[in-house]
Amino acid sequence: MSAFFLGRPGDTPSGGAASSPPGWRRRLPRLYEAPMSNAAAPSPAAANDDVMKKVVALCKSRGFVYQSSEIYGGLKSAYDYGPLGCELKRNLMSEWWRDMVTCRENVVGLDASIIMRPEVWRASGHAAGFADPLVDCQVSQERFRADKAPRPAAPGPLPITCADKGVAKTYAEIIEKKFGVVLERDGNVLNGLVASSATEFGYVPKGASAPTQTWAWRGYVSPLIGSPFLTAEKSFNLMFRTALGAVDPMQEVANIIDTTLLCSIGSSEDLGHGTRSYNLDEFFNVVKAKFPKETSDEQSLLGKAVKSKDKALVIRAIIEHIAGPSMVYLRPETAQAMFVQFRNVQQSMAAKIPFGIAQMGKSFRNEITVEHFIFRSCEFEQMEMEFFCEPGTQLQWMEYWKDQRMSWWTRYANDPTKFRFRTHEKDELAHYADGCYDVEYLYPWGWGELEGIASRTDHDLHAHQEASGQSLEYVDQEKEDPKTGKKPWKYLPYVIEPAAGATRAVLCFLLDAYCEEERTTATGEKELRTLLKLHPRLAPIKCAVLPLVKKDGMPEKAREIIDAMLKAGITAKYDEKGSVGKRYAKHDEIGTPWCATVDGQTLTDGTVTVRDRDTTVQVRVAISDLVATIKAKLENFER
Ligand code: GAP
Repeated sequence: MSAFFLGRPGDTPSGGAASSPPGWRRRLPRLYEAPMSNAAAPSPAAANDDVMKKVVALCKSRGFVYQSSEIYGGLKSAYDYGPLGCELKRNLMSEWWRDMVTCRENVVGLDASIIMRPEVWRASGHAAGFADPLVDCQVSQERFRADKAPRPAAPGPLPITCADKGVAKTYAEIIEKKFGVVLERDGNVLNGLVASSATEFGYVPKGASAPTQTWAWRGYVSPLIGSPFLTAEKSFNLMFRTALGAVDPMQEVANIIDTTLLCSIGSSEDLGHGTRSYNLDEFFNVVKAKFPKETSDEQSLLGKAVKSKDKALVIRAIIEHIAGPSMVYLRPETAQAMFVQFRNVQQSMAAKIPFGIAQMGKSFRNEITVEHFIFRSCEFEQMEMEFFCEPGTQLQWMEYWKDQRMSWWTRYANDPTKFRFRTHEKDELAHYADGCYDVEYLYPWGWGELEGIASRTDHDLHAHQEASGQSLEYVDQEKEDPKTGKKPWKYLPYVIEPAAGATRAVLCFLLDAYCEEERTTATGEKELRTLLKLHPRLAPIKCAVLPLVKKDGMPEKAREIIDAMLKAGITAKYDEKGSVGKRYAKHDEIGTPWCATVDGQTLTDGTVTVRDRDTTVQVRVAISDLVATIKAKLENFER
């Protein structure tokens, strides 16, 4: 299907007159992926685990992805893309850009700054929405999101299920030491705890009918072992904060805390080692004297804190008050800049609705759990587009973009059956959301998100219009306002947002491409061939040029071929190290789709062999036709 399309939804090349998707609602700012189901994995879990391990190992050994700061022990939440990985990621993102921007007359690009005014994140809801309640299990030390934790039925048993018998023994000891009860061990399960109500759980010894000890309960247990022994909920801000400006605001914070706190410490205090006694009233008076305006405003952070008489809250509010103005966030998504710059882009490009603004680049989230290699990391890349359309046409555009996006993903895949849509359920959608679908991939651990396609109505433009006080309305001079029947029609456009993860896409296509094939060598031995069947347009190297031997003018001829390819814009690599068989194997493993080999015949008839990675078939091609042949293969590649 052509990626090029101009016009209205009903005219979509996919025949896109859309049917209404079920559950027509809209979507929250997407902070997390929906829980991944482990259903329908096609092969045993162990084998899938194995594939993941092999891909991770290959990524390191062949220069695709390394752990960040590895020589210092590594940074768990960050990855570095090596020489081949950055080519793969760039190729993938270029393909997205080509499909979403270059080949469309009604989509334009944007490259906005990563740091934006904090008001942007307050208006978008991220400043508040990114602060999630987190809890630690006091037995296993697992940290998890309270709002996503399992909620067992009450009244009912609360068995603690451990990884094995040994872990069960350790955890039973911890529970005995910390909470004074001895749970019965049954293999890897610890029994004896019961939820007596939605707010209380207790220990019922074997044979007893009522709990001998009880604790307060918030109704959920830890996801890993099902433990109700939990810490209090704490809020964590998932956006990265940093300070703008050369002067370190923390020094000023320290000075003010010093003057307000120290002068309110009672004279009996032993500043060296003994107990400190704070004169709380004096402390609040000093704070009020220092910040008279803020503390008298009961709506301000400081005002609220002083009113609460909570010392820690006041100190926190003082820090926020001083450091806050220079604090900025690293963007947690690329999307918001496209709403904030909507008016500039529309006016400077004289863009007519419907049109889209696309952006790709880095996003940052202080993820609670980073998992599955580059699937979820704290620094990652996104490819997002906001498609602005007339209110009322969003259903059709949603269908159109769903179709376009699925066709893009499967175009590059070996196994299109591993991609599917998942419709968001009612409880996953925000009040303003019109509908949302995830493009999911069947990862080795189960189905998981690759891209979200959301119908966001005018929620974001409306929020930024309100918060900034600037009109973000679109004026259609040719249309009548449906309410008044008069021209022009001024409205806030509705939005369809296909939001994909670029770094996650790298993982998806590496997994899709990884394969092992048993083959018989020329000497009749069986050997395992590892290859990455990457789509040639994604492959880091398109063609390796190999002199059969390092003599007889073959290296020189190979270099001439390389020069011609590089001049033509084909990423080619010269490789003369090792036997030609080993070089083929190496290029199979890094996904190079073609190897051109200069041999004895080349020197007499000007032809080379071109070996296909997937079939290993070799054909002779004239050097004069080589560039055109590789270009044609790249353009017309089909599986
Ligand atoms: N503007 C909407 C938005 O950002 P999202 O579902 O939170 O929606 C879009 O993110 C895509 O970005 C996801 O489908 C996923 O592919 C990718 N993504 C989100 N968080 C990620 C993370 N921590 N690491 C890697 N990729 C991530």
